[in-house]
Amino acid sequence: MQTARLRLRSVVDGDASRIAVLAGDWDVASMTGRIPYPYSDVAALQWINGVEENEKVFGIEHNAELIGICGFTAEPNGNAELGYWVGKPYWGRGFATEAARTVMDYGFRKAGIRRFVCKHLTGNPASARVIQKLGFRYVGESTGWCEAQQCELPALTYERRRPWTMTIRALAS
Ligand SMILES: CC(C)(COP(=O)(O)OP(=O)(O)OC[C@H]1O[C@@H](n2cnc3c(N)ncnc32)[C@H](O)[C@@H]1OP(=O)(O)O)[C@@H](O)C(=O)NCCC(=O)NCCS
Repeated sequence: MQTARLRLRSVVDGDASRIAVLAGDWDVASMTGRIPYPYSDVAALQWINGVEENEKVFGIEHNAELIGICGFTAEPNGNAELGYWVGKPYWGRGFATEAARTVMDYGFRKAGIRRFVCKHLTGNPASARVIQKLGFRYVGESTGWCEAQQCELPALTYERRRPWTMTIRALAS
């Protein structure tokens, strides 16, 4: 998939070392649920090859370089949890929002998702802002496991339902 500035594509084995470097930065890993710290090439390769059937994962490419990952885990009931990270050198340029918006659009239109949920750890204002820009609604407090920090941490949960215009179109088709 193509956005104004990004290409969203499948993740391949050759991305492992780039993912390990970018996601292995403490400031990235420590804000996510599943990225270990330190993050080795081997662990990144294991992650790439262990993506489950209900997970849709996109590599975010800018100027032909992988700069992050965005994707979701879908449940049979039409709910999906959105996740994303962008490498530190690329922060603050709207890339996460641009990628996630397109991934959500894909989820709603092509993957049968009716409701996205997104969580961020408290103390992650950048992700809170991305979630706000994506049109999510605050649901409440929760907790989330952080692999890098090896503990359960307080988090905030949000949801975004499929826009009603898409539902009408889907019912009509
Ligand atoms: C969260 C993350 C994906 C954002 O990526 P990004 O490409 O920089 O995001 P965007 O540029 O689309 O938007 C970031 C917004 O947060 C704002 N922001 C950044 N740091 C902030 C801070 N400390 N306080 C308040 N707002 C902040 C930016 O100004 C921007 O908002 P704006 O467009 O209104 O100016 C990136 O920081 C990251 O990968 N962090 C580590 C991993 C992570 O947190 N993943 C999400 C897990 S829930």
